[in-house]
Amino acid sequence: MKRPPIFLTLPALIALTLGACQDANDSQKTDSEPVSDSPAIQEEPFGTIDGQEVRLYTLTNANGVQAKITNYGGIVVSFIAPDKNGEMADVVLGFDSADEYVSKESPYFGCITGRYANRIAKGKFTLDGQEYTLATNNDPNHLHGGDKGFDKRIWKAEPMETTDGPALKLSYTSPDGEEGYPGTLETTVTYTLTADNGLRIDYQATTDKPTVLNLTNHSYFNLGGHGSGTILDHELMIAADRYTPIDETSIPLGDLPSVEGTPFDFRKPTAIGARIGEDNEQLKNGLGYDHNFVIKDSRDGKLQLVATVHDPESGRLLEVESDEPGLQLYVGNFLPKDEPMKGKDGKEYSYREAFCLEAQTFPDSPNQADFPSPVLRPGETYTQTTIYRLKVK
Ligand code: GLA
Repeated sequence: MKRPPIFLTLPALIALTLGACQDANDSQKTDSEPVSDSPAIQEEPFGTIDGQEVRLYTLTNANGVQAKITNYGGIVVSFIAPDKNGEMADVVLGFDSADEYVSKESPYFGCITGRYANRIAKGKFTLDGQEYTLATNNDPNHLHGGDKGFDKRIWKAEPMETTDGPALKLSYTSPDGEEGYPGTLETTVTYTLTADNGLRIDYQATTDKPTVLNLTNHSYFNLGGHGSGTILDHELMIAADRYTPIDETSIPLGDLPSVEGTPFDFRKPTAIGARIGEDNEQLKNGLGYDHNFVIKDSRDGKLQLVATVHDPESGRLLEVESDEPGLQLYVGNFLPKDEPMKGKDGKEYSYREAFCLEAQTFPDSPNQADFPSPVLRPGETYTQTTIYRLKVK
């Protein structure tokens, strides 16, 4: 989708925004109209889930870059940014309405994934001597929080204007025992669209019983624009010396070997497709890249550049910053090979036409004592920050 860039000085943007927020407070909210005329945050209906209306929030910065987020699953529906010629395109896969995320069985497009992103072996783990059983929705394992994870919940939404840019704060209380996980989890996820075209995601959670968690965002990117074809020519850098090899059911084997001399060495920018067809056991187990990379050994809260992706054709460059120990690379191996999936704006999506870089702790950590701990206890606060920043090169 091509949109003309909006040019506004920052003071003009702030003045407009403050004025519009005032108007929004004074006026009655209706279904068909945005609640504010602010160029920075707009709100509109996005469909109905289980009889409850959900909304779409459009955050716009002074460069005309836009992020559209719904409070259904905290899904990033669109992320619209310029290419090297200033042409705007939407670089994430998605659907036109919340209902389609349900009816088309979204493969986790853009969502907040939880309580535990990625897999837990056989849907079982033991914490403080007690065994817990979770859904094995990715036979034989548990995946992305189970049958009805955070991606399928309706979140409370609070649009906010912050000094870092327009933001959307989402909150969800997951009751004790939901999807088999212990503890009431109070979760907030705040999306902020920064002045330097970063979509910053700040996660926070507390619990009233010891529990495990692993939150991430599952955006599917195509830097040429969604529906523009393969991503195998995108050049990827991942700042990881090691990775977590997996068995045939995608559960980590437990060792953390070096990437040196393997198709998993992305320390220097390399086309995603350059080695994906190699005769390699790990590529076979993942049906391509579907692996966690080891950024560091613990959750130390320090934000760093963990990956870059460059699309030589459009010139778009994605920078990923994260404070998590792991980064899952998934390259759309399960997108359809034959009949394409029908997405937003009449676009179609097929096999390997998107990549995900999911900042997280390691898969199956609840069962792997040597991995960074995914345990959260009462009195502690879980935090996680990821930034997806779009540039051109
Ligand atoms: C993650 C997993 C993949 C797949 C996708 C969703 O990236 O690692 O195996 O399940 O989510 O389709």
